[in-house]
Amino acid sequence: MLVSARSFAEYRAMFALDDRDLEQRVLDCPGGAASFVAEAGRRGIDAVAVDRQYAENREELGLLVERETAFKRELLVRQTEGYVWSWYADVDDLIRQWTANARAFRADIAARPHRYVAGSLPGLPFADDSFDLVLSSHLLFSYGGRLGEEFHRAALAELARVARREVRIFPLVAHDTGERYAGLDRLREELAALGVPSRTERVAYEFRPEENEMLVLSTAGHRAPARTAPGPAGAVDPVRWRHREAGA
Ligand SMILES: C[S@@+](CC[C@H](N)C(=O)[O-])C[C@H]1O[C@@H](n2cnc3c(N)ncnc32)[C@H](O)[C@@H]1O
Repeated sequence: MLVSARSFAEYRAMFALDDRDLEQRVLDCPGGAASFVAEAGRRGIDAVAVDRQYAENREELGLLVERETAFKRELLVRQTEGYVWSWYADVDDLIRQWTANARAFRADIAARPHRYVAGSLPGLPFADDSFDLVLSSHLLFSYGGRLGEEFHRAALAELARVARREVRIFPLVAHDTGERYAGLDRLREELAALGVPSRTERVAYEFRPEENEMLVLSTAGHRAPARTAPGPAGAVDPVRWRHREAGA
């Protein structure tokens, strides 16, 4: 899994965020080296990021984005035809934007460390309903081939538990096959049975063809069942952190 560093503007587009959405308390899960929380802070938005890498690789996560530039460039150049070049002008523009975003992340995690919490799905270190809106980009469904359906089921329930109003997830297709996550409808039915209705919504962001929909979970009427598992310490995470992995 490569470290990515998307921007506040990309988050706005991926999650169709309007100004009212951003008046609320927002969680970015997983935050990676994205600059969403940094830019949100500058705008007075109450946002927090959580990522399992924040336990050890904090500022280093931003540095990794820069160290991997040549490798990423090589990967993207080989596959330029598999992408939609509307957000980024070309591969060099993507590298330039991600480098700037990663630098903003590094400066912010150093200046406001409390905004970056170490935690791993499916056991987040937050109380029920801690955030109004939870945003999740490029983990669930994206790595569907590697993360099993059981992980998705548990992770979705966990994101719903900490969200008072809504969870938004982008994209709905796997990064390696470009196909919509096969278990999506089944997982949505199961969530509905737990009192979490959902909808899919087209958004104005598309980097891979057909990768232009988010899933919105409405959590306002949902009360999470009492925990039976011990949470973060006891959670088993099937995704190992592997950067510089060809094809990832
Ligand atoms: C591709 S990055 C996406 C980062 C950010 N959302 C963005 O779009 O730039 C995926 C991130 O997921 C994190 N991650 C992987 N498994 C995780 C888990 N089980 N719980 C929390 N974070 C996880 C990784 O550490 C990595 O930073």
